[in-house]
Formats: sequence, C-alpha cells, structure tokens
Amino acid sequence: MQLLPGFRDFYPEDCARRNYILSRWREVARRYGFVEYDGPVLEPYELYQKKSGGELVGQLFDFVDKGGRHVAMRPEMTPTLARMVAARERDFKKPLKWFCIPQFFRYEKQQRGRLREFYQLNCDIIGEAGPSADAELLAVLIDLLRSFGLQKEDFVVRVSDRNAWTQFAGARGVAPERLLDFLAVIDKLERAPREETARKLADFGVSIEAVEQFLEDPAAEATGLKTLTEDLAARGLDGFVELDLRIVRGLAYYTGFVFEVFDRNKKERALAGGGRYDKLLSLMSDGKVGLPALGFGMGDVVLDNLLRETPAAAALCQAWIAQQHAVDLYVVIAQEERRAQALGLVQQLRDWGYRVDYPLAPLKIGKQFQAAENLGASAAVLLGEEWPQIKLKTLATRAEVLLHRDELRTHLEQILGATTRP
Ligand code: HAM
Repeated sequence: MQLLPGFRDFYPEDCARRNYILSRWREVARRYGFVEYDGPVLEPYELYQKKSGGELVGQLFDFVDKGGRHVAMRPEMTPTLARMVAARERDFKKPLKWFCIPQFFRYEKQQRGRLREFYQLNCDIIGEAGPSADAELLAVLIDLLRSFGLQKEDFVVRVSDRNAWTQFAGARGVAPERLLDFLAVIDKLERAPREETARKLADFGVSIEAVEQFLEDPAAEATGLKTLTEDLAARGLDGFVELDLRIVRGLAYYTGFVFEVFDRNKKERALAGGGRYDKLLSLMSDGKVGLPALGFGMGDVVLDNLLRETPAAAALCQAWIAQQHAVDLYVVIAQEERRAQALGLVQQLRDWGYRVDYPLAPLKIGKQFQAAENLGASAAVLLGEEWPQIKLKTLATRAEVLLHRDELRTHLEQILGATTRP
C-alpha cells in the first residue's frame, strides 16, 4: 500500500524535526504575548468558498457527509478565526493576539515545498488598525525565523500593498468585480511566462509595460514602508524587509498591507504569507463586528527545507533533537540476580522525573555501556557486586562514585539538575 501523493509518514526522526519546528513556533509566539486557540478540522464547504476565495476553493478536500452536508477539511485558519472572534467578540479585550498550529489539507500539485498536508503557524492580531500592529506582526515573524538560526542573509520579508494595485487597476478601467482576477494575474507574475501574463493583462485592457513600470517605481508606497522600517529598526530588526509590489497574495480577503517571506537564494516557495483583512470580521457577522485584523501563516514544509539547506540552522536543529531524544540515565544490571532491585530503582528514578532506560534482556556489561552511550545518557547507575551500594558513573568524564541508595538523589541533582517531581 502506497502513501497518498502529498501525504507524509512521520518516522521518529521526522517527528523530531516536526516537534522542533512546532516547539520553537509556540515558544516565540508566547514570547510576543500571543495565546493559543484552535478550531475544527472539518468546516462547511461554503466557509472557504465564500471567505477564502481565489485558487484555494479549487484545492479543497471536500465531500458530502452522512447527514448530506457539503463539508471540507480545513485548508487554512483565517475564516474559522474570523467566525470564532465575530461570535464572541464581546468576551475578549482588544487587541487580541492569538496563535494556532493546525494541520491543513489542500489538493495541490505535489512539488518541492508544497504538499497536500502540512502544518501552519498562524499569528493574528485583531482590533488594532494602526501601523504599530503591522510592525509587531512582522517583528514576531522575523523573530520566529531568527529563533531557528536564520539571518538576514537567509530570508527576506517582501511587503506590499494591495491598495496600490486597486488604484492602479481602477485608473485603467478594470471593473471592481474583476479586481480579484486581475490580482491573480499579478500574483503569478514571477512564475508565469511574460507573454502569457501580457495576454492575460490585455484581457483587462492593461499593458504589461504599464505593470512593469509601476513595479519599477512604486514611489507612492515608500512612505508606508518607512514607518514600518523605523519601528523594526528601533528593535534592531531592520534589514529583513523590502518593498515589492509583485506580492499581492492569492486569497480574497486581504485589504491592504500584504507580505510574503522568501529565502534569499530564491530556491524555495514562500515560507510564510499574510496581511491585513480589515473587512472579513464584518463580512462574517453581517456588519455587526467591524474589527480590523491582520495575520500570517507560516508552513512547516518550506521551513524544514530551508533548515536543512542552512548549515547553522541545521546544526541547531540536530542539537535540539539529540537533547530531546537523549535519556538522562541508564541502569546497568551488572549481575542478573540484581534485576528485581534494578527494576525498583528504575521505577524510583522515573518517579523522580528522570528519563531512564535499562536492558530488557540480559546483556554483557560492555554492551550495556554502549547502549547508554547510544541513548545519549549523561550517567549510568550500576547494580553489581557492591550491592546494596550503587555505582554512579558520569559518562562524559568517566568519574565514578559508590553510593547508598538514599544518597543517590542528591548526587543526581548535582549531575543532572533537579527534577520538578516530588
Ligand atoms: P497562504 O499563503 O495560503 O496563507 O499560506 C501560508 C503559508 O503556508 C505558505 O507561505 C506556505 O509556507 C504554507 N503553505 C501553503 N500551502 C501549502 C502547501 N500546499 N504545502 C505546504 N505548505 C503550504 C494562508 O493560509 C493565510 N490564511 C495566512 C493568514 C493568516 N493570513 C492572515 N492570517
């Protein structure tokens, strides 16, 4: 039986990489005061059809359930978040800073950086219209990537403004109801052949030369970026952001400020994308809740590719995994007749909160020490002919002490640090 295209098995090493990414995401989001929420994996099909729009609708994993409802596996979080906030808006102090780390499903063509299942960190700020929220969002985005050991040389946040294109299109007679289709052509600008883009633009009565000239000289937009860069510079986070009007984003709900993150070598697809969606909550609540909002999504697939390709980041990841997988202690059973006492000790050590392993079957002492090394144990506890005394051996220094069982905990705390267990 083969895996479905675009889906993944997570062997322990893959799971460890995933846990690394998710734990850093959580840690940095918390550092910025974001709190975690979640929603359902399955939603009504119309939620995405009406609110996501764009190419996402054609990528839904959708089906009719046993109750005859047309449902879809979640491909993104923003419509769910807007629904949740609109439903209980009065219960929360503004601005809201919320994050979540859901698994998503999109029926996309499988390619490097794009699968049919992936994890995505979402950070969103709701209830703040000013540019300070835009800067705070970009700061957490930049710091998230920095926490993986990625630097200015490794990635860039390309910021843009959809309003610039709305004005551009309006001035050239593009009908408002065709604006999203026009933006879809701009969104594909970098990936599609020039002649194809020219042909599509002609359909809107716009020449490719006009678009190219606009991209060259987006003077009107530079002032907005200035505030943003000043805010980021005050934090020492400047140099990560560039103005680039080629970014328009493929989703329907964005209203102005939008951005995407790319690797500097341009080898990968977008690492993250987001922007303002100031009207979505209002749309979701029939105009009752008019809160401005902004946020981004960062996927695990492209990020993991970049971590593998960037030596400093790859080393950090490996060190984290080694530390996570390591046990603290290995109990060496030097004499099989001590197995019962050894099991008692293993249990006691685990009750104290240490990570402990031991041989399930009789094994030569040399092999047991080898197993201890392989498992990354810091120390070995040996039960043998000295019983009822126990030998504690620090594996890095090979230092040994002979102890009574009631002296063990104090010594362990000196080597390994205290555990939180009573
Ligand atoms: P998005 O641009 O569709 O935005 O996705 C954001 C990120 O999710 C992408 O940059 C990429 O890293 C990852 N991603 C998307 N599709 C796939 C895929 N098929 N395979 C692997 N990774 C993928 C949104 O989803 C918006 N809802 C983000 C947002 C939150 N905007 C405001 N708040």
